[in-house]
Amino acid sequence: MVSTHTTFNSKVTIYVVSCWIFAAFGGLMFGYDIGVSGGVTSMDDFLIKFFPRVHERKLHAKEDNYCKYDDQLLQLFTSSLYLAALVASFGASKACSALGRKPTILIASTFFLAGAALSAAAEHHWILIIGRILFGIGVGFGNEAVPLFLTEVAPVQHRGAVNILFQLFVTMGILFANLVNYGVSTLHPNGWRVALGVAGTPALVLFIGSLVITETPASLVERGKETQGKEALKKIRGLDDVDAEYEQIKEACERAKLVKDPFKKLTKLSSMPPLIIGISMQVFQQFTGINAIMFYAPVLFQTLGFKNDASLLSAVITGSVNVLATFVSIYAVDKVGRRKLLIQACAQMLISQVAIAGILLVHLKTTGTLTRGLAAVVVLLVCLFVMSFAWSWGPLGWLIPSETFPLETRTAGFAFAVSANMLFTFIIAQAFLSMLCHMKAAIFLFFSAWIVLMGLFVVFLLPETKGVPIDSITETVWKKHPVWKKFMNEKKGHQALDQWPKLIL
Ligand code: BGC
Repeated sequence: MVSTHTTFNSKVTIYVVSCWIFAAFGGLMFGYDIGVSGGVTSMDDFLIKFFPRVHERKLHAKEDNYCKYDDQLLQLFTSSLYLAALVASFGASKACSALGRKPTILIASTFFLAGAALSAAAEHHWILIIGRILFGIGVGFGNEAVPLFLTEVAPVQHRGAVNILFQLFVTMGILFANLVNYGVSTLHPNGWRVALGVAGTPALVLFIGSLVITETPASLVERGKETQGKEALKKIRGLDDVDAEYEQIKEACERAKLVKDPFKKLTKLSSMPPLIIGISMQVFQQFTGINAIMFYAPVLFQTLGFKNDASLLSAVITGSVNVLATFVSIYAVDKVGRRKLLIQACAQMLISQVAIAGILLVHLKTTGTLTRGLAAVVVLLVCLFVMSFAWSWGPLGWLIPSETFPLETRTAGFAFAVSANMLFTFIIAQAFLSMLCHMKAAIFLFFSAWIVLMGLFVVFLLPETKGVPIDSITETVWKKHPVWKKFMNEKKGHQALDQWPKLIL
């Protein structure tokens, strides 16, 4: 019999908070990698050394506002990281199951350290790209293990907030990178080396942290280490009496043990609801258009007629808004729930994107610049957009997929969510500058259409997972949802994938 307790006792100890923070440094690494590339690719020294053609075009920027940075190789510098992470997340899923969450975080930090060293020392394109690939493998391992780790060690009533520490650190990483970019932009000719190499510092903190943190009880019990699992649970809850929660974890592990091949299990009907939700959350997160802003903020602001310094500064402003607004989510996620945050944000994101598109379509022609006043309005609208993303799709894109899979398919299913994030981050990173060049301001309308779609998705298909213990998710959420329960039927649940259209129609 599955227990469906909705809460268990716990204390917040210094040790458990240190575990959360150390692990969250994995998010900081991810954020730093996101933030650093936009700044580096707008630095003249970097462009002259590696992308002289782009630099040449930038000098004649007056010719075309929307197309000055459109270069596939330059985009590949930004996006190679995400391809590497995409592939690595499946290896990371195996590592997470076979070795545990803690060693997977250690592996991530080692790749980050190697990536920082190589990128900072790069003399040729190919070393630069290898450095990005090493960072990417780090991201694949870190982004698989850290959100799962945080979700599994969090007390159920604070799970949303604890998991969002990952995203909070992502936003801090992006801001840190923006500040470093701003600081080194006058450091000639090696400012870009400093920007890329500084990533080694948080990587070192993550490395040390990964030696100190606990393994999660679920991972220990799943790998047959039951006594250690119970001890770990006592330690992270700060209590001796953890029997009820331990029993629920054990039951989940027993069910998990019956599943020999989690990837095969994911092809069954009963796995479709969390899989569809997990992947959609990540795909939609990317189609908000957030990374068009995050990667290319300095480039974008230059495109909008800001001078070099002013545009880096504007990126610092959006970066700060991103960090601050994430606190709203930490506060609200376990109180108002996931769905309300997502729906509110869709409305705010839609209004700001349509307004940006309107201003640019009317006022920013292929050549010329915006007036100061209008440029300020655009920055304000970008801030409104970033703010709403930061308390919704940003953190929840990671939280929801980490809490919707039952233990037996958790690491495998989450790997699909992570890789969907990476794939679409890659696609947008690779395509954005060309899209901007061809679609011009209408690019913001393209993202607006997606925002409408994702709003409808939340309204009709996304279940509320606030306050549900993850190890009773199937019983408490999936078997009760009006649409998804049709997939969970005992007999039909074992059927293969091709049966699903009949079930929802
Ligand atoms: C996303 C990143 C994005 C960042 C912005 C993360 O949740 O996965 O792609 O750049 O949020 O804060």
